[in-house]
Amino acid sequence: MLIEDLNKLKEDIGKEIDKVNYHIRKTLADIRVKVFGKSGSLTALSKGMRDLPNEEKPKVGALINEVRSFLEEKISNKEKAFEEQELVEKLEKEKIDITEPSNDKVGAPHPISAVLDKLTDICVSLGFSVVEGPEIETDYYNFEALNTPKNHPARDMQDTFFINENILVRSQTSAVQAREMEVRKPPFKIICPGKTYRNDSDSTHSPVFHQIEGLVVDENISMADLKTMLTILMKRLFGEDTTIRFRPSFFPFTEPSIEVDVSCPNCHGKGCQTCKGTGMLELLGAGIVNPKVLEISGIDSKKYRGFAFGLGLDRTAMILNSINNIRNFYRNDIRFLNQMK
Ligand code: DAH
Repeated sequence: MLIEDLNKLKEDIGKEIDKVNYHIRKTLADIRVKVFGKSGSLTALSKGMRDLPNEEKPKVGALINEVRSFLEEKISNKEKAFEEQELVEKLEKEKIDITEPSNDKVGAPHPISAVLDKLTDICVSLGFSVVEGPEIETDYYNFEALNTPKNHPARDMQDTFFINENILVRSQTSAVQAREMEVRKPPFKIICPGKTYRNDSDSTHSPVFHQIEGLVVDENISMADLKTMLTILMKRLFGEDTTIRFRPSFFPFTEPSIEVDVSCPNCHGKGCQTCKGTGMLELLGAGIVNPKVLEISGIDSKKYRGFAFGLGLDRTAMILNSINNIRNFYRNDIRFLNQMK
């Protein structure tokens, strides 16, 4: 009786499984419960083993196992086939047509980032490493370590935002120079790009702006090295036909100090609106590192010398893109930014 029931179950359920197609694939789970579940048909039949005489038990037991594995395999084969089909359907549905024309909403680096990238590439190709420092800085690194003690008149040019007596938002990336000189062993060549802050606001000044600082410390550094380096930098940035003018200047951390002008890339020196008719544009400050600054940071000024330069990225981006109002960079007006691509 039990044997017949088992064979019948095998046949009936086998047929039922065969009938399940992809669209009603969930019914496989129902069949599983109906047959193998706690009150499933095979479970019920297995319980019948108890009442059989001992000599029949092995035979029936073997049959139960056979029916179980036959049906389980049938179900899992179907499940596997359905899973594969599901994957094929999904891939088909999610296929991306790479030949479809794209829309024109492609982004581009912000003009200031673009200038920074360009300058960084040039400097890295000349052997400089890139380092960054904190925007919230101590009075010591922003001024004192750069030979600008409290009450020094040069502080007036960099009126910035103090958080308390000793903490401020840095007014110049030169602060990173001071930090790096403390931890680096000469010779080294670094650039330090980043945001800087000053209490300044008009069409060419923004309270937040960007600078890039360069510092080289080695033996036998001279003004010739600085001039060569800056000439290469300016020509690569504005074009080979750019002419460069060096003027004496003053910074507490360099001695001697210079300011550097470049021929206006807009009119090539003839005079236009961008250069206010002068043909030249003032671009950066630089100089031979004051030996006092080297000593403050623990570098032997008898053995080593350095040169440094600092350049405003906003100003450079304004010149390169013929922009007359710095605020355009910070307005996030997509119509403006689209023209800068
Ligand atoms: N830190 C100066 C400024 O913000 C620019 C500068 C001048 C940087 C001379 C230098 C330098 O490294 O040597 O106005």
